[in-house]
Amino acid sequence: MEIVSTGCCECRFVPPDDFDLALLMLELEFVKRGARSEEIDAVLLANQLRKKFINQTKEKWFREIFCPLNMGTFSTSDCSYINTQLGDAKPGVSVFDKDGTGVHDSIVNQLLTKIDGVESLNNVLLIGMTNRKDLLDEALLRPGRLEVQVEISLPDKDGRTEIFEIHTKKMNENSFLADDVILEDLAAWTKNYSGAEIEGVVKSAVSYALNRQLSLDDLTKPVDEESIKVTRNDFLNALQEIVAAFGASTDDLERCRLNGMVSCGDRHKHILETAMLLVGQVKVSKGSPLVTCLLEGPSGSGKTALAATVGINSDFPFVKIVSAETMIGLHESTKCAQIAKVFEDAYKSPLSIIILDDLERLLDYVAVGPRFSNLILQTLLVLLKRLPPKGKKLLVIGTTSQVSFLDSVDVCDAFSVSYHVPTLKTEDAKKVLEQLKVFSEDDVDAAAEALNNMPIKKLYMLIEMAAQGEHGGAAEAIYSGREKIKISHFYDCLQDVVRY
Ligand SMILES: Nc1ncnc2c1ncn2[C@@H]1O[C@H](COP(=O)(O)OP(=O)(O)OP(=O)(O)O)[C@@H](O)[C@H]1O
Ligand SMILES: [Mg+2]
Repeated sequence: MEIVSTGCCECRFVPPDDFDLALLMLELEFVKRGARSEEIDAVLLANQLRKKFINQTKEKWFREIFCPLNMGTFSTSDCSYINTQLGDAKPGVSVFDKDGTGVHDSIVNQLLTKIDGVESLNNVLLIGMTNRKDLLDEALLRPGRLEVQVEISLPDKDGRTEIFEIHTKKMNENSFLADDVILEDLAAWTKNYSGAEIEGVVKSAVSYALNRQLSLDDLTKPVDEESIKVTRNDFLNALQEIVAAFGASTDDLERCRLNGMVSCGDRHKHILETAMLLVGQVKVSKGSPLVTCLLEGPSGSGKTALAATVGINSDFPFVKIVSAETMIGLHESTKCAQIAKVFEDAYKSPLSIIILDDLERLLDYVAVGPRFSNLILQTLLVLLKRLPPKGKKLLVIGTTSQVSFLDSVDVCDAFSVSYHVPTLKTEDAKKVLEQLKVFSEDDVDAAAEALNNMPIKKLYMLIEMAAQGEHGGAAEAIYSGREKIKISHFYDCLQDVVRY
């Protein structure tokens, strides 16, 4: 058979949980290339063998994969193909550990020997699959080995519609699908969902529909099958439950602007507008697949909230925020790996935004010394300049309140544009207070005057303190508009918040 005689080896790396889909595609490819169905029956799945040799050492398991081929047991035709799950997070042949122990090295060596060593096997098409190509030993990927590399990326809108079609086919045939469910809409809502996640959405929608039929008062009551209908609303609920691993982390972003976004001056407005222009530029530009933008300014001036707003408004399928919050106590190299992984994940999506929040915290910066992590610095400098793969576009937004430090270690130069996010001038503070409606009209000017040059974070903190009232418990009346903050109490609180 033609494929086999070329001795071609393929390495496929796919999104997690889509191995079955990938396998199906490969089998279809076999059929397309003229393999007879009995040849496909000779497929030897390493995964199936693994179940047989559970609790065995990886070396033994690995030898067994190739052993039947050597002896011809499985070679009922000219073709056999081995699907070996390489370097995946799931149990599999872990041939990826570069700094690994002898065990890993020995497995890599065994695989290499079988591919092009003295004991190499003929007439075998070897197909490896992984979702962590970056972790594979380079020796495996050289010409003559797993040389043809094909990326199976996340499904596009048409692909998602087809996957929804497959998973809702039976429901549709049996009239369980309500008329208001439009598969194209579902596909539009599930940007960056993998096939497995889409299947999860369908299952979850079904469970919502079934739940409606259950009566908690009488669980033994039989379900009226005729009236089960999976509706558009069930799918909307399911989408809240199943979120895409490579999607926008909307919850994390919303957490950065808990107070919502009020208009706070021309400068903030200008920055938001220009940042949205950058988003547009990334979307349409052919020449600049990577755009980087730095938001710098005093602590609490609203940089993270601005970056999160850009991420939410962009409607990009992949938006992730990298912050030191999730890396407390981690070793430098683990932090680097986590940051690099976010970039790798972003490269899988056609349009992505990465927010590097509080860069000085990510860099472990301490003013005394001064000290910082050079390893993380070098990682960031490389990642900020690395162009995404062909067809993928990325916007990186960094935030910092230590711009002079970042300048001294060349991070500022790595960003293509930089915006200064200022504290609130008197007129800006007045605008914010007017929108909050917590002062009487006569007091707004005086309050805004007192707030001159205050970052928005402190302003919110101060208003919340003052809204409690002198004796506490006044917040509800003030926020509902029944009462206003007393200016004298406001001045008292101001004394506590401002450091002289
Ligand atoms: N335009 C806005 N409207 C309403 N609230 C805002 C606005 N901008 C910022 N905030 C609020 O102000 C607080 C501080 O904002 P943010 O965390 O973005 O500041 P920062 O500059 O990133 O601070 P830091 O330097 O400490 O990281 C947040 O609680 C945020 O919700
Ligand atoms: Mg911040």
